Amino acid sequence: MHKNKDGIYIYNQDAYRGIKKACEIASKTLDMIGQYVVPGVTTEELDKKCHDFMLSHNSVPATLGYRGYPKSCCISLNHVVCHGIPGDKRLKNGDILNIDVTCILDGWYGDTSRMFTVGNIGLRSKRLIEITHDALILAINSVTPGNTFGDLGAIIQEYVEKNKMSVVRDFCGHGIGSEFHQAPNVLHYGIQNSGPKLESGMCFTIEPMVNIGRPETKILSDNWTAVTRDKSLSAQFEHTVFVKKEGCDILTLSYNNTFFPDGAKLHRNNV
Ligand code: MF3
Ligand code: CO
Ligand code: CO
Repeated sequence: MHKNKDGIYIYNQDAYRGIKKACEIASKTLDMIGQYVVPGVTTEELDKKCHDFMLSHNSVPATLGYRGYPKSCCISLNHVVCHGIPGDKRLKNGDILNIDVTCILDGWYGDTSRMFTVGNIGLRSKRLIEITHDALILAINSVTPGNTFGDLGAIIQEYVEKNKMSVVRDFCGHGIGSEFHQAPNVLHYGIQNSGPKLESGMCFTIEPMVNIGRPETKILSDNWTAVTRDKSLSAQFEHTVFVKKEGCDILTLSYNNTFFPDGAKLHRNNV
């Protein structure tokens, strides 16, 4: 493994296998947690389940102790954009939430998040979740050598704004593999043909955060929780992808089809 001229790691087959295994545990953690996302459960209880699952699969939650972060996953509820800290808050009917887990296995990192819903959610929440997932998949469909990171951002921004929602600017995706956060910053907005070129062997996350209202965020006094300034609902999905000679592998697809049962396939074939 070496870095290219933009300072981005180019991973070999061994690294690919290592990262894929870490991603598998991360995905399976989210597959496992879905059944427990019900009215009355606290986000802390969900965190404990994720923590135990990761440990029992010989992996370590990367977020625990990361820059002082106190928990094994991030749970971001309703107008929380990202980095929500699990606590004693109880879920209630109509809530939407993102659960974001990052596993370390044999020194390799895998990072993924999905939206979950509690009971019956409103039509606007459902649309927000679908647009966010579609935006991610649209960008992934363009992950192939020769395209640029700017292309990915532009695709997400165009799709989200066409649907009258907004892309959060204050957080981004990232290179990943031998560390949690590596170059480059993967922006979810931008300009076609700009930024570094994608190359085979790159591994990074795409993790767009989409708000129903305005894109601005603020950080709460716990120094982690990011919320929408206008209190509008926010959604996020995250995949870790590995660039191949042509196209890419999504390393963090669900293994049991508990959410978006068609996985990415339907969306991928349809665009
Ligand atoms: N998993 C998040 C990401 O997608 C990062 C969480 S860092 C934490 O990059 F410290 F907030 F957990
Ligand atoms: Co990430
Ligand atoms: Co993440």
